[in-house]
Amino acid sequence: MPAFRTATQLLDFEPTSSEFLEEVITGLGRAPKSLPCKFFYDERGSHLFEQICELEEYYPTRTELGIMRRYAGEMAEQIGPGVMLVEYGSGSSTKTTLLLDRLEGPVAYVPVDISGEHLHQTAESLARRYPEIEILPVCADFTGEFELPVSRRTPTHKAVYFPGSTIGNLTPDLAERMLRRIVEKCGCGGGLLIGVDLQKDIATIEAAYNDARGVTAEFNLNLLHRINEELGGNIDVDRFEHRAKYNRELHRVEIDLVSLCEQTVEVGDASFDFSAGEKICTEHSHKYTIDGFADLAARAGLELHRAWTDERDYFAVLHFAVAEAEQ
Ligand code: TRP
Repeated sequence: MPAFRTATQLLDFEPTSSEFLEEVITGLGRAPKSLPCKFFYDERGSHLFEQICELEEYYPTRTELGIMRRYAGEMAEQIGPGVMLVEYGSGSSTKTTLLLDRLEGPVAYVPVDISGEHLHQTAESLARRYPEIEILPVCADFTGEFELPVSRRTPTHKAVYFPGSTIGNLTPDLAERMLRRIVEKCGCGGGLLIGVDLQKDIATIEAAYNDARGVTAEFNLNLLHRINEELGGNIDVDRFEHRAKYNRELHRVEIDLVSLCEQTVEVGDASFDFSAGEKICTEHSHKYTIDGFADLAARAGLELHRAWTDERDYFAVLHFAVAEAEQ
């Protein structure tokens, strides 16, 4: 057997349509109504999200990528040699390669993503590009429970790379819990490199979620199309509208689907009444300060070691280490 071999392994946890149905029925039965954001990312949704990332108004992706381009070397050094790098969400292979190109002797790369299709493609192309790194994709919802695979070579330590400010889509409470799980997964010597969107003027933030071309609206409304197509729903999508507004007290963008009239929709055997103007909450995107986020992470057992930002301080990439007391 050659010294290095590429292995891809897929542990399949992709949500089934019965899970989708169950969560839709629960979410629409709540007051206020909500739908879980993890269902945004079917094939069409993932494609629309890629388009969002290229929008003039959507600054986070471009800004984070700029930070990565500029400081990936420093970040790789901070992470250290012989790592098992675990990435939450495998949609951003450009950012990943910036890191993988600079890391010293990484043992394995573990992309974790809910979209199996997307994950496969990323894993295959990275396996070709990095034959010496074991690629171990895991199809899972990274906000829930899942096991890390075991690599053939033992890493010196584990580090989680969590780009895209996706952590902002959790409430601060859930974000803290998730960071706590990262601490448990990485353990001794573990690290976390995370992208966090920062608080800034509200017009800039709101424009990022209300693009002129309406791609974000289409992305949000895609959830309703999915319910119709996959669960046999009878929703008239034209009777709903995308809305994104910044909540100043809670420092978050609140993304909703708003019913344009009084109506009843059916999904499976269930039916749901809407009043005119009633909303379905689909996502929150929290914006942090570096200090605020460091405080939250400290409560989860992480110590801030380095912070990299852009010139305008729109976005930060933060490196944390598992605190001594946690080891
Ligand atoms: N993680 C992204 C964010 O909060 C997701 C996102 C961007 C999004 N635009 C959206 C989610 C529109 C729902 C609707 O920035």
